[in-house]
Amino acid sequence: MQITVYGATGTFGGHLVSQLRDRGHTVIAAHRGSGVDTVTGEGVAEAADGSDVLVDCVNRMTMNARRAVDFFSRSSRSIALAAADRPNASLVCLSIAFRPEVGESKLLGYYRAKAMQERIYRRLVPADQLLMFRSAQWFELVDSMTITAGPLRIVPKMRVRALAAAEAARMMAEAIDAGEHGTIEVAGPEITDFSKIAERLADERARAAGEAKAPMVIGVPVPGPTAGDGLIPDSPRLSELSLDDWLGTL
Ligand SMILES: NC(=O)c1ccc[n+]([C@@H]2O[C@H](COP(=O)([O-])OP(=O)(O)OC[C@H]3O[C@@H](n4cnc5c(N)ncnc54)[C@H](OP(=O)(O)O)[C@@H]3O)[C@@H](O)[C@H]2O)c1
Repeated sequence: MQITVYGATGTFGGHLVSQLRDRGHTVIAAHRGSGVDTVTGEGVAEAADGSDVLVDCVNRMTMNARRAVDFFSRSSRSIALAAADRPNASLVCLSIAFRPEVGESKLLGYYRAKAMQERIYRRLVPADQLLMFRSAQWFELVDSMTITAGPLRIVPKMRVRALAAAEAARMMAEAIDAGEHGTIEVAGPEITDFSKIAERLADERARAAGEAKAPMVIGVPVPGPTAGDGLIPDSPRLSELSLDDWLGTL
């Protein structure tokens, strides 16, 4: 198959492109560096030309609701429009694990934007052509969510069933190969607090650098559903790669 990956150079996109090429697919790697801007729509339709599957894994990491909603709503609309021009093509949206039923007003800005992204695709893409692929949070998310304050590393305290981004990409590549549609959730082998993952990662990095002491990690409780089980998927497909296994690959 020919598969267009929007966000091909990202944490997830990079793994997905390798996985798909290893499986013998032709991949069109779309991102701003290749002349494709999903926010303005520039080059989005051209990148979809001839493809059987379009994958949306673009990202703008921000907790600001207005910026996140603006990015994800514009990007999803431009990719959905490109899909509409290709009536036999499938659309795969990479979403993130959260429970929308808790009420959107209680969600962090970024999650509100992801809820809107899902709604846009469900409205604009026929159900039998859409795969909503919801991944639990990745171990890699620690770096994007850490605030450094001198020797301290401050991260949100939230319960997650995290997995490695490479594992999520492998499971998406399998689903694409199998021609799956509908909603799939994927997660890691154990439920743990995000701040514990950050601690383990800080310890591992300090050990590898030969430092006597790792920075102190402080988990700050986040109000709303992210503090409870609001990020734990109901019935996910599970990766077997544990945090220990992943730390061993660094
Ligand atoms: N982090 C997690 O734990 C997690 C878990 C589950 C799902 N997700 C979802 O996974 C998706 C990808 O996240 P990620 O961390 O892999 O992203 P990332 O590393 O920040 O990469 C973002 C990708 O999007 C591209 N991009 C950004 N703005 C663009 C634009 N205007 N036009 C075209 N391409 C653009 C970037 O390339 P250029 O900069 O070259 O354009 C890059 O390839 C997100 O939707 C996120 O919600 C994340």
